[in-house]
Formats: sequence, structure tokens, C-alpha cells
Amino acid sequence: MNSISVNILVLVSGGGTNLQALIDAEKAGRFSGGTSGLSGKIVAVVSDRAGVYALERAKLAGIPAFVEALEKTLTKPERRRDLSDRILKICQEQDIGLIIYAGFLSILTGELIEAYAGKMINIHPSLLPKFGGQGMYGERVHQAVLASGEKESGCTVHIVDAGTDTGPILIQRTVPVLAGDTADTLAERIHREEHIAIVDAAIMMVTNILTGGKS
Ligand code: GAR
Repeated sequence: MNSISVNILVLVSGGGTNLQALIDAEKAGRFSGGTSGLSGKIVAVVSDRAGVYALERAKLAGIPAFVEALEKTLTKPERRRDLSDRILKICQEQDIGLIIYAGFLSILTGELIEAYAGKMINIHPSLLPKFGGQGMYGERVHQAVLASGEKESGCTVHIVDAGTDTGPILIQRTVPVLAGDTADTLAERIHREEHIAIVDAAIMMVTNILTGGKS
């Protein structure tokens, strides 16, 4: 049997419930293509901040986890470039084929984006292109949705390009915005859909990478 595997790097910044959904999916055999022998494997986790629970989740699952913090003494563009280059180095060392931003809040640039064009995906907690872009993350997104009076929201998984939340959309899942919702209740409803969307998108990408886009 053929047995090719796509090595997956998951990028995190927080609690890591999306990382957990990916870990659980891999354990349940969902990244394995059955008789075809195709598979995806999470081989590393990178956080841009220390002490977040996502790192503990990686440790519990036996996945090597790295903290690559932003270098505060650099200017913003230099800082992003420096972090991107450090992540690229990890990708090269670990032979990474797919990068998943799972609640990762830094913006990456430079050679990494070119080297992994079409092989990086991001999950965002809104129905993009609405409520995306720089400064729109986490609770801020849900507060903006509530303030705008939208009747529905949801999540989007998209391919990462050089912009922020702008690449081609792979999957969207929708939830209603209910009367009396707070940012927390809306976030919780969307989180449940994110855990489905991120796994479905990862499976889609692994299949696509291994079949050279012919699936
Ligand atoms: C998720 O809701 C994700 O969509 C969001 O951060 C949360 C992380 O949750 N990402 C962004 O806002 C990126 N712009 P998690 O740490 O429990 O997976």
C-alpha cells in the first residue's frame, strides 16, 4: 500500500480548542485515506506566546510544541518578518506540507508566504469578507457583529495569501445571531461550528496536496 503523509504544522495563540479538534480528528483516523494509504499528521505546534493552554494540549497529545514569541525590540514589519522566518525554518526542519492557523493572531509575511502559497489555511470567526482584516480577531469580531445588527454570523476557513483574511474561501458555516446574545454566547455557538469546519478543511487540503489537486 502507498503510504505518503502530509506533515502538518498548527499555529496557535490561545486556548487551542481548534487545535484539539484537529488532534481528536487525527486520533479518530479522519486524516487517513483508508486503502489509499494517504494521510496527514500533526508533527508540530507553534505558539507566538508562552503559557497558553494550546501548548498544554500539544504536550498532552505528545506533539512537539515551540514558542516563537514576537521580538518586541523590532519594528512591526521587522517583527513579523523575523517570526515568519523562524516559522519557515521549523517548516523546513520538519518537512511541513500544510500549515494551519488555528486561532493564530500574528500576521506572517515574506518567504514563508511564498514558499507555502496554497498550503496555508486560516480559521476566522466570521462570515468573511464581513468582519475580517487587521485588528479583527476573537471577541472584537463578535462585538462588531452584534453592534451591526447582523442576523447571522459564523466561521470561515480560507487559504492564506499575502493579505489579512483575504484568501480564497474553502468552507463557511453559519449560525444565527439570537436576541440577547453577548459576544461570549455568540463566540461559543461559532466555536462549535469552527471545530467541524477546521477538520473538514484540513481533510480537504491533505487530500488535495496528496493528489496534486486532482481530487
Ligand atoms: C477562534 O475563534 C478563531 O476563529 C479565532 O481565535 C479563536 C481561537 O480559539 N481566530 C481569529 O480571530 C483570527 N483572526 P481556540 O484557541 O480555542 O482555537
